[in-house]
Amino acid sequence: MMNSITNSYKNTPNSLVHRVPLDFNSLVSVPDSHEWVAESVPVIDLCDPNAKTLIGEACEKWGAFQVTNHGVSMELLNRVELETIRFFSLPANRKLCALRSPEGITGYGVPRTSTYYPKLLWSECFTMMGSPTHHAAQLWPDQPHRQTTFCNLMEECQKEMKALTERVMELMLESLGLTVDDLKWFKPKTGSNKTQALLALNSYPICPEPERAMGLGPHRDTSMLTVLYQSSCRGLQVFQDEMGWIPVQPVPGAIVINIGDLMHILSNGRFNNVLHRAMVNKTRHRVSFAYIYGPPSDELISPLPKLTNDNNPPLYSPVNWKDYIYSKQVHGNNALHALHLTN
Ligand code: SIN
Ligand code: FE2
Repeated sequence: MMNSITNSYKNTPNSLVHRVPLDFNSLVSVPDSHEWVAESVPVIDLCDPNAKTLIGEACEKWGAFQVTNHGVSMELLNRVELETIRFFSLPANRKLCALRSPEGITGYGVPRTSTYYPKLLWSECFTMMGSPTHHAAQLWPDQPHRQTTFCNLMEECQKEMKALTERVMELMLESLGLTVDDLKWFKPKTGSNKTQALLALNSYPICPEPERAMGLGPHRDTSMLTVLYQSSCRGLQVFQDEMGWIPVQPVPGAIVINIGDLMHILSNGRFNNVLHRAMVNKTRHRVSFAYIYGPPSDELISPLPKLTNDNNPPLYSPVNWKDYIYSKQVHGNNALHALHLTN
């Protein structure tokens, strides 16, 4: 896979390897060709007085929505996008210096291919938890300035994404008739908040045969929420029972919010943990970045007591994020099924 990606960079005249030193900015604002869809995930203005209700409805029906007026500056989103393009344009041997270890969760990697999955997975990813200082030193050992610039930008991005995630989480809780006090770990009255998050930079290089490949295969995130910036190049699709696969059309400046498995458990199945995938294309190198947010890794997550009663008993047994990630790596989508109390 690594070779196919590297080769595709080398063989494609328009590839980023050639474009990067010339003009990063031209890649940020190119609009994608329009594709008409009857209905897709709602776009919600976070300053709309009805935002809470709209978010609640979107979480139940879709498990995903886009937000505007979200408080993360366009300037920061553009800078992170440019840095993502720059990062993935590094030669393969340099990216491999920061290779994710088999049991690790941070660093550079490509998705695991499954023998049973008929398509080639055509993407690369770089994940970070907190400041990526260690990986930056592996990537640019003799360029301290480059390390600092990269780390500062990624830290700034995580800070802004965290603030947005917390704002959206609060609106979600309110839409369920709850407050932050119903979730002790979320905004503790004393001590600091120990929530965990991963920042993932994703790259989907130009693909000569997009029908035979997929950026990321259909999956549900293990997280509470995933906050994703996909810029102007379409590729993200969500699955909706009645409609099948629906593209999430890029909206300038908007950020996508996906509900993960842990939020589905917390809401006792009310919020849909959206099934989604990332497509690739023949003409544009697509990048995205995602803030994958969850509770403190040892915190047991179970349906919130205020959302259950005799008629609506808890659907899932408690699990912490760390064990759940492990179970999902081993059992895939059956990991959630295994927690279902009616089994
Ligand atoms: C993801 O599901 O983690 C990324 C999706 C995307 O790049 O659109
Ligand atoms: Fe995902």
